Amino acid sequence: MRTVPRKKSQGSGRGETRDFPPPPATRPDARRTPGSVALARIVSMPRRKDGGRHLNIGRSGTGKSYLTRALLAELNRGGRWIFTLDDKDATGTQYPGIEYVTVADFEADPPPKEGDGSRERRIVFRGDLRKDIVCPAEDVAQLGKRFAQKGIPVCVNFDELRRAAAGKSGQHWTAPTVPWLLMEGRALGCWWVGSTQSAKLVPDAALNEAGTISVFCQKRKAARYIVDVLELDDELATVIPELDEGEFVLLAEEEDWNGHVYRL
Ligand SMILES: Nc1ncnc2c1ncn2[C@@H]1O[C@H](COP(=O)(O)OP(=O)(O)OP(=O)(O)O)[C@@H](O)[C@H]1O
Ligand SMILES: [Mg+2]
Repeated sequence: MRTVPRKKSQGSGRGETRDFPPPPATRPDARRTPGSVALARIVSMPRRKDGGRHLNIGRSGTGKSYLTRALLAELNRGGRWIFTLDDKDATGTQYPGIEYVTVADFEADPPPKEGDGSRERRIVFRGDLRKDIVCPAEDVAQLGKRFAQKGIPVCVNFDELRRAAAGKSGQHWTAPTVPWLLMEGRALGCWWVGSTQSAKLVPDAALNEAGTISVFCQKRKAARYIVDVLELDDELATVIPELDEGEFVLLAEEEDWNGHVYRL
């Protein structure tokens, strides 16, 4: 079991360091637990043939994509297609697989079968910021829907879910097939994964319909918003702002927070 170093105490401000642990700023019984336990929980959450629906929420650099990579590696193990939309960084993507600019490019020239009959099924749609080419979230969602409707195991991953939403506070979907996959895709065995830096940038339905949500560090107001929308234990509003890089709490549909803090 891995123990996670907590932030060092600031001392009293006179330059000396304290050699005893800082007082627990968070829930006293919050247990630090290996992220693999959370990953197993996320993967096993869907019932029977249902596809999973997982949402990551956290400030930039807190570990959303890191966790997503590990989750997608699990989901791809059985040969599931993984369609990721990750177009925010022109310099590169963190996701392994074959990169395409748009869905049309993928359909015109899908990955070939290898000699042993295997095929790379991890596809990353990148758009092209330099040439002003956008890969719409709707296109990726519709591609996932077509695969799912044919009975092909698939996962769609929206690394920036707000690309599928708009409005002052992100309260409506601009890509209607994204929520369709979230709500109906599960019955077709389609997995849905989304990430957002703030819950306010995406419709509340994303929070309410997700089967599991990993919440990484958020500022106090943003943490309060999540707690209010999901009617969670008030203590989480103080735990979430205290999380270190890579740490997250896992919320499962219709369950209270289990008191664990995870890190992969
Ligand atoms: N559990 C972890 N163990 C080791 N390194 C980690 C862990 N989680 C995150 N990191 C590292 O922290 C950095 C930020 O993580 P990541 O890119 O996943 O953040 P993010 O939440 O996706 O940020 P953004 O919103 O900007 O995309 C990366 O360098 C990543 O490798
Ligand atoms: Mg990221």
